[in-house]
Amino acid sequence: MKKGLLNSQTVLYGVLGDPIGHSRSPIMHNRAFRELGLNAAYTAFHVSADRLHGAVEGIRALGLGGVNVTIPHKVEIMPYLDHIDEGARVAGAVNTVVNRGGVLTGYNTDGIGYVRSLKEETGVDLTTARVLILGAGGAARGVAYELAREGVPCIYIANRTSKRANELAAIIDKYTEAIGLGMDEIGDIMHEVTIVINTTSVGMSPNVNETPLSADYLHRGLIVSDLIYNPRVTKLLQEAEACGARPHGGLGMFIFQGACAFELWTGKPAPIEVMREIVLESLQNRG
Ligand code: ATR
Repeated sequence: MKKGLLNSQTVLYGVLGDPIGHSRSPIMHNRAFRELGLNAAYTAFHVSADRLHGAVEGIRALGLGGVNVTIPHKVEIMPYLDHIDEGARVAGAVNTVVNRGGVLTGYNTDGIGYVRSLKEETGVDLTTARVLILGAGGAARGVAYELAREGVPCIYIANRTSKRANELAAIIDKYTEAIGLGMDEIGDIMHEVTIVINTTSVGMSPNVNETPLSADYLHRGLIVSDLIYNPRVTKLLQEAEACGARPHGGLGMFIFQGACAFELWTGKPAPIEVMREIVLESLQNRG
């Protein structure tokens, strides 16, 4: 096959979402396929909610290798799939589907991708970490589950609505010690926390002057991680850096969730560095 040319053997992948026009997944995965010389291609499918079921049947009918799933379909797609992996079940959401001979399995690589990014970019030993997660939504669920699987001995979950924090803590407590809190209780536990992770949308563009945690709680030696990658450096991360804490941004999570999906589909190690390079390049060129 001539390099880069599609033919009758090409395996097709894609991402389902609404809207989808700004997704960086196609450039990232196509770059990865090219790097490994795979006869595969990845595109973006604009799928409205009323067409989601039809789109999933289309994966089977057309023999796609698999898809990523993004907003607003991550939860709604679940009943249409044949199997749901345990991590996706706990997260309550699917972001990756693998098609094995017409049998569709849903995974959630957001949590695994986040933890791989955190470990590789900070070198932290999670088995001795005491973690505070801010937020108790879908993103927090996936992250908390994977941190528990990695052997984090204690996870605090603080949320604006403390009931949701308690509910999530009860689920995660099956895997490791997990305690739910209201935002006003953070001061009681902050002295023992070694990693803070923001999973809320506070600080995301355009609200770049907001932060989910008072700078009074930040100090040298703390790792401060933000799932947000727009902006690349949130106010939380700026304040963390200013007081000597170690900042960790959300772009790595995007790259590694893609890498984990790529590995599920192809069975080959993802070429992380070229994937990161092309996404960075595309973010720099967006203006
Ligand atoms: P996601 O799937 O991205 O996690 P989500 O399930 O809607 O999205 O969850 C959003 C999270 O951000 C929640 O923890 C939410 O807190 P509530 O449960 O109290 O709603 C949190 N969040 C969103 N906006 C917030 C704000 N302005 N202040 C504090 N927390 C906020």
